[in-house]
Amino acid sequence: MLFRKKKEEIIDAPLIQLIDIHKVYHMGNEEVRANDGVNLTINNGEFVAIVGKSGSGKSTIMNIIGALDVPTSGQYILKGRDVSKLKDDELAIIRNKTIGFIFQQYNLLGKSRLLENVELPLLYSGLGRKDRKRAAMKALEKVGLSDKWRNYPNQLSGGQQQRGAVARALAGSPSLILADEPTGALDSRTSDDLLSFLKELNEEGNTIILITHDHSVAERANRIVTMYDGKITFDGNVDEYRKQVAL
Ligand SMILES: Nc1ncnc2c1ncn2[C@@H]1O[C@H](COP(=O)(O)OP(=O)(O)OP(=O)(O)O)[C@@H](O)[C@H]1O
Ligand SMILES: [Mg+2]
Repeated sequence: MLFRKKKEEIIDAPLIQLIDIHKVYHMGNEEVRANDGVNLTINNGEFVAIVGKSGSGKSTIMNIIGALDVPTSGQYILKGRDVSKLKDDELAIIRNKTIGFIFQQYNLLGKSRLLENVELPLLYSGLGRKDRKRAAMKALEKVGLSDKWRNYPNQLSGGQQQRGAVARALAGSPSLILADEPTGALDSRTSDDLLSFLKELNEEGNTIILITHDHSVAERANRIVTMYDGKITFDGNVDEYRKQVAL
């Protein structure tokens, strides 16, 4: 019974808790504080945009949230568990099954066809070959690329590569989607489609964290966090954000 109670408590915990996160890089004599005391709690089902100028520490915090990088100091609690205390195989399962990454660079593998790229994260899902292919094709359909499944990345336009990366991120139906400037290289129409798609996924109960430079993109989220010099300078809803931007 005690165990059961404990388990429920873990499930009730916020999805993400960042406590006084610092990430410091040393470049020669210079010290870069990429994250400088970040405190942030994100609950299951939120749609959060992180906004800030270039170099403000957005990708750094995103990489920490995605357990791709570790902070210099501070604590990261994911689903009630201290990430620094997780074993490598537990981390790998979280990265491969729970989190879908859409990176700033597309990071498609040049020597693999689009379909194989999209299937990659599913290799760890326990799905058989046919089911993997089916799930990958479904994800490609969602981003409007099912006719390009045979193409290699260098046979796709920039926007198509980015959409391919989105399909790859979503193929495994992750419950936490981390998107770093996903609309950066897209025309306004395709960008709008992608944002509507992220919104749909959020309405289905998935948590979305989206990095963007663009105010109008940020306003598609329900909560906006701004960063400056490695620190959070604002955290509120869209209405509050609009007032802040207007100042
Ligand atoms: N590996 C690294 N080594 C040294 N400095 C780094 C490293 N990675 C990032 N930085 C520095 O940390 C700071 C924050 O970088 P980060 O990539 O988080 O910025 P960002 O907000 O994502 O910017 P952008 O909008 O341009 O993508 C920058 O000053 C950057 O130069
Ligand atoms: Mg970045």
